[in-house]
Parts: sequence; C-alpha cells; structure tokens
Amino acid sequence: MGMSAAAVAVMVLLVTSIQTIGGVIDNPIESDSPATALTASASASTSAPTAVSYKTPLAYGSNRLGEKTGELVEQAIATGFRHLVTGGHHEKHNETGVGIGWKASGIPRNELFLQTCFIPFDSRNHKDFKKQPSDPETLPSAIEDQVKLSIEASLQNLQTNHIDALLFNNYRAKLWDVDEILKAWKVLEEYVDRGILGQLGLASVHEVEWFEKFYNATRIKPTIIQNRFHSNRQYDVPMEETFAKHDIWVQRFWLLNGSSHSGKNNKEMAKQKGVTPEQLMLGFVMSLGSQTCLVGTKSLQHMEDDMDIAKCYPSLFSDDKERMEYSQKLGRRQPPDRSLPGRSGIDFGSDTSPKCKSTH
Ligand SMILES: NC(=O)c1ccc[n+]([C@@H]2O[C@H](COP(=O)([O-])OP(=O)(O)OC[C@H]3O[C@@H](n4cnc5c(N)ncnc54)[C@H](OP(=O)(O)O)[C@@H]3O)[C@@H](O)[C@H]2O)c1
Repeated sequence: MGMSAAAVAVMVLLVTSIQTIGGVIDNPIESDSPATALTASASASTSAPTAVSYKTPLAYGSNRLGEKTGELVEQAIATGFRHLVTGGHHEKHNETGVGIGWKASGIPRNELFLQTCFIPFDSRNHKDFKKQPSDPETLPSAIEDQVKLSIEASLQNLQTNHIDALLFNNYRAKLWDVDEILKAWKVLEEYVDRGILGQLGLASVHEVEWFEKFYNATRIKPTIIQNRFHSNRQYDVPMEETFAKHDIWVQRFWLLNGSSHSGKNNKEMAKQKGVTPEQLMLGFVMSLGSQTCLVGTKSLQHMEDDMDIAKCYPSLFSDDKERMEYSQKLGRRQPPDRSLPGRSGIDFGSDTSPKCKSTH
C-alpha cells in the first residue's frame, strides 16, 4: 500500500528528531540522568523553558568564533548540538551572534539549552570584559547592579526570556572572595526564583576548601562547574570526590588545545579504533561520566566527528583496563585506592549503544 509524500516526510522528521534527541539530550552513560524526566515535564507544561538537560556529554562553545558566530552556531545546531555555551559581556564571545544563530536554525527554543555567564565589571577582568551596545555610558559599580545589567543584556542578545544556565565567571581561577561572589549570587538566586534563570554555576573552581565554604553559604546551590581539563590542575582528580558529593556536573574546556595536545599521547590507540585522537580524547572524558565536553570547532567535519562520539562513546573502550591505559598515557594520575570514575567494573564490550564507525 502506498504512503503519501506528506506522511513519509512526517515519518522521516520524527525518526530524525528521535535520533538527535536520543543521541544528544540523553547521556547514555548516566542512567540516573534527569533528561527523560525533564523532557516529560517540559512537554506537559508549555511554560517549561527547555526540554534539554544540562547533563549531556557534548556542548558547543562560542569562544573566539567572532563574526562567524551566527553562521557556526546555526551549523552546529543543524549537526545536532542542542546545548550552546556563551559569555555575556565576555570579550571572546559574541553573545548576539549566538542569539542570531539559534533563531536562524529553525529549532524551537524549548529544544535548546542556552547558557551564558556573568563576568564582573572589574579591573581584574580587564582582558576579558567587553562593554555591550545596550550598556549605559557609566557602568554600575555595585556587583549586584552589574548582575542585573548583565542578565538583561544577555536576554536581549540571546533573543529569549529565559536563560537555562548562568555561570559566575571566576576569572582565570583567581577564586574571588566567597563574600564577594555571594553578593552577586544572591541576585542570581532572585532571578531563579522569578523563573528567568535555570541552573547556576561557577567557572574555574580548583580548591576543595574554597568550594565547600561557598557551597554551604548558598541558598540555591551551584549545579555546574566549568573547569579546564589540564595537567596543571591534575585533570581535577583532587576535586573529583567533592564534585561527586554535591552532584556537580562538570563542563570541560581546553580538552584539545591544552596539555593533551589533541590527544596525541594516545594516537596509536585511536588508530586501532578507527577514530581520530581528538575523538578518542573526547570519548575518554565522556566515559568518566558527569561531565560535558565543550568544543568550539569551526569545522563541519569536526562537528560531525564530535556528535558521532557523543553517541557511541559508551562502546568506545573495550574495558576499564584500556581506559586506565589511556588515562596513564595522558598523564592523569588516578589514586591507586580509587577506581576510574564513570563505568568502572562494567562490561564495556557488551554495551548496546551504537558502535563508533570509522570515518577517517
Ligand atoms: N571558563 C573559561 O575560562 C573558558 C576558557 C576557554 C574556553 N571555555 C569554553 O570552552 C569552549 C571550548 O573552548 P576550548 O578553548 O576548550 O576549545 P575550542 O575553542 O573548541 O578549540 C579546540 C581546538 O581543537 C581543534 N580541533 C581539532 N579537532 C577537533 C575536533 N574533532 N573537535 C573539536 N575541535 C577540534 C579546533 O580546531 P577546528 O576549529 O579546526 O576544529 C580548535 O582549534 C569555549 O567556547 C568556551 O565556551 C571556557
């Protein structure tokens, strides 16, 4: 029996969107991920801002995309990215371009996760701060007023009435005084209460004691930490237990352009698996669980490579021994009394997620 062209088109659309959502919104490694619950509640209520969880293996960052931001964001969304990470008042991000890009993509707002940051208007930020066209000539000196101005500008730039996550940008891990950040945080909490902000988080947190003090002083707890994945911070091994204790989801930057040198120490393993060293690097980090790899690639091929890995990484390594070999060659020092985070002890070989296909 023949099917009308319209019915076929609807079916193709449905299958495509299920594949995209299954591969990106749900993190296959985190069986307790709230992604499914969020999806369900979002579709039940029209007021829910997004159906996308922040607990995903991969997100697209807008650092240094400049004039091409709109075009690249649109391309990233077409490739399957749904979580966009930008920076309000940040010199290296074109937040307006992210707004233009997602609008042009044709994807509904509630199928995207939009994240930005607050960067204090302070001399300590002189290299990263950028005045926005909507700003008054004289910027406010009180941090509370800066937060308000920053959120209003981000809403305008991103062409939205809700920001799914906002991070306090802790400039180059200087770890500002807890009291100083708390003044800003209290305003952020008010915006969460008003339904304008979703998740709250911080960038560059590398000291357990500092974080515990901050965490305990907040009313609305941070759920996201954005940290480099770098040898000069011991790949955050010293922070792992603290983050796990507070159910923190870690976003990773400098994965490819930092001390891993695009995963070159594990080139041979990548070749054996038929993936690029960059893909294997991302896959390894995804396998650690509870983290998102941030990439800001300008290449369509790399966008596709990264999306492939976000879908197949649970079957990328044959077992924990192999993951440990990867970790050691990277220079990551796992304490002997602690197993690798992620799926330790699970039979990787029997994983039913899609197998990584060789594209190179
Ligand atoms: N909180 C902070 O202080 C901070 C600092 C830096 C970054 N970030 C965030 O993290 C995001 C990522 O920034 P990043 O500095 O880590 O890296 P990035 O901007 O994504 O740069 C990665 C580099 O690796 C290359 N590459 C090669 N193969 C690739 C592949 N398969 N996939 C992706 N890239 C590949 C890219 O080149 P091609 O373009 O040719 O692919 C690019 O040169 C930023 O957009 C920002 O949101 C935050």
